[in-house]
Amino acid sequence: MNTIKKIGIFCSGGDSPGMNACIRAAVRAALNKNVKVTGIIRGYQGMIDNEFIALTSRSVSNIVHRGGTILRTARCQEFMTKEGMKKAWENLKKHEVDGLVAIGGDGTFRGAIEFSNIYKDISIIGIPGTIDNDTYGTEFTLGFDTAVNTVIDAVDKIRDTADSHHRLFFIEVMGRKSGWIALYSALACGAEAVLLPEEPDSIDKLVESLQEAKQKGKQSSIVIVAEGEELGSTVEIAKKVKERFDFYDIRISVLGHVQRGGSPSCFDRVLAARLGVKAVDALIEGASLKMAGLMNGEIVLTPFHESISKSPAFNRDLIRIAGVISK
Ligand code: F6P
Repeated sequence: MNTIKKIGIFCSGGDSPGMNACIRAAVRAALNKNVKVTGIIRGYQGMIDNEFIALTSRSVSNIVHRGGTILRTARCQEFMTKEGMKKAWENLKKHEVDGLVAIGGDGTFRGAIEFSNIYKDISIIGIPGTIDNDTYGTEFTLGFDTAVNTVIDAVDKIRDTADSHHRLFFIEVMGRKSGWIALYSALACGAEAVLLPEEPDSIDKLVESLQEAKQKGKQSSIVIVAEGEELGSTVEIAKKVKERFDFYDIRISVLGHVQRGGSPSCFDRVLAARLGVKAVDALIEGASLKMAGLMNGEIVLTPFHESISKSPAFNRDLIRIAGVISK
């Protein structure tokens, strides 16, 4: 029997494209099962500050295509304190919330575990919303596909000017400590090299591969650098390469937060719909402290403690393929 009468939905941590599509899906899935919905503004911070808004089917009209999140988001240290959690719980009770859909990354799920260690009467299901694609329990996080497509669009444009001017570009992409955005965009854009935190890199190896590309007649080169690359900052890496290899004029481009915005791709919208509906169904079926994710084409649930303690396996075959086809 369903004991969930009202769910609260919130986003937490960095935003990602597809969050709105996911909010829309979860709201409508809940209403469809006669479960009321409240939106919580700015994640755990809004829970503490009592920022709740009623959500109806119409409140989520015309947002499926919008980047960002209508519920706003925040990273909240106060929630990690006993006082912060108490305030949040009191507000959730005041609003009669008995289930939560938490859209965010591992910090969000860690917060949910801590909260549930003290307050056991509110079920929580998570949805992996981050462009970084670094969450265990899903092959793709919500927003990753859109972010990669944004990078592809930018790199393709940079390639035009790089080729015209016979230049070597170092393009830094986001991902925190994860190299998924870098690897996918390098593969999709035909970058001559990619530097990933998951791989041991060296300036020697990089210079060698740029020389090889030059010998094969390339007129420009693109190196995609993951922001978590351990060789150093993109500027330092470019400087070291310049000292050893001055065939090209060098430029640096840091793509930055443009990767976090924009209209979600078809893939992210469909993923958002599937994850949002699964999260609500899971709450109604009595699940808690689990994350909905996409594995082998199916939406499955993974316990929070696993998704925060394990790292998703990096796809080394894609690194090999990128190397084979880049010259
Ligand atoms: O986790 C998403 C992400 O965009 C990372 O790729 C990046 O390192 C970080 O957030 C940037 O955070 P902020 O928005 O606080 O600058």
